[in-house]
Amino acid sequence: MNIPFIDLKAQYGRLKPEIDAGIERVLEHGRFILGPEVGEFEAALAAHVGVAHVVSCANGTDALTLALMGENIGPGDAVFIPGFTFTATAETVLMVGAEPVFVDVDGENFLIDHADLERRIAAVKAAGSLTPRAVIPVDLFGLPADYEALAKISEAHDLFLLADAAQSMGAQYRGRAVGALAPATVSSFFPAKPLGCYGDGGALFSDDAARAALWRSLRGHGTGDAKYDVVRIGMNSRLDTLQAAVLLAKLPGFAAEIKAREKVAQYYDQHLPAVAVRPGRMAGSDSAWAQYTIQVADRDSLAAALREDGIPTAIHYPRPLHLQPAYLRYGDGPGSLPVSEKLAAHVLSLPMHPDMDEATSRLICEAIARHL
Ligand SMILES: Cc1ncc(COP(=O)(O)O)c(C=O)c1O
Repeated sequence: MNIPFIDLKAQYGRLKPEIDAGIERVLEHGRFILGPEVGEFEAALAAHVGVAHVVSCANGTDALTLALMGENIGPGDAVFIPGFTFTATAETVLMVGAEPVFVDVDGENFLIDHADLERRIAAVKAAGSLTPRAVIPVDLFGLPADYEALAKISEAHDLFLLADAAQSMGAQYRGRAVGALAPATVSSFFPAKPLGCYGDGGALFSDDAARAALWRSLRGHGTGDAKYDVVRIGMNSRLDTLQAAVLLAKLPGFAAEIKAREKVAQYYDQHLPAVAVRPGRMAGSDSAWAQYTIQVADRDSLAAALREDGIPTAIHYPRPLHLQPAYLRYGDGPGSLPVSEKLAAHVLSLPMHPDMDEATSRLICEAIARHL
């Protein structure tokens, strides 16, 4: 057996004429930086999501940094983030000079725990050395966070609510698409993401025209109306025209791909053995299924047995952020985020992509049943 964890080749096979034609157009016109495809893609994605402004950039990590820079978040500021996420969410907070405050997550759906968030905001206020400025919920594995509840908490404490939707493009929450759920959202087009390009890419989303204009300036060296007027400190963070062309070719079929991912997830839900804990869903939301992540008692043995069968798995993530060597000094050590720590020891992500057929899903479920 040679089962891929994700199958970008199969996707390319399906979309080859559109992707090749898009790339060839860019090669012909030669406008490799901020060529016409970049604006076309931003407009198409904004319409797809139902948000007024999309500003593309070089990757999802830069998108987070640009969003924090846009709010002047920096030294002396506290930014609340989940302890169980990819490193970029914390890294960018430190890159702008602010401090991450790690918050525990829900043990079933992996999303930021609201009660713990409230507790940590109160603790930062009581300690008095940092100013609470922002919260970055992460739509982990593709499931949107509970943005209505988070908006209330953010408003009560005057926090900037920034959605890290790197993994959840294509998902929806209470009838609205990811990208339009928070005052500001960021996403990633890393190849393995639900909407991926053929290199690095990212974007920021907002209904606020002033905020979008600021992001455009920040992503292009902080320039003003004239090309060589530098009005603020910015970055060089643009989406390549070639990547925009790839994304433009993928966008028309993207909604169908999300449906295909949901079908794979439903098959797993129904056919995995009972001892494998399924990823929690949320009523009124659909996940983009960036990952289908189960929890099992002996994750490492199962992963090894599946590898023998030719079935790849991945661990997202083997260590929570507050226990990573680089972030130890910003957290409260082992035991301080018990749910994140437990998840890190038991999670296992299974193959998931829109081109997976039912026979493959069945083989995977049968192999897991054999080994558990
Ligand atoms: C939750 C989360 N945030 C941010 C990022 C950063 O995105 P990128 O890899 O495009 O910089 C990722 C991507 O891996 C992610 O999973």
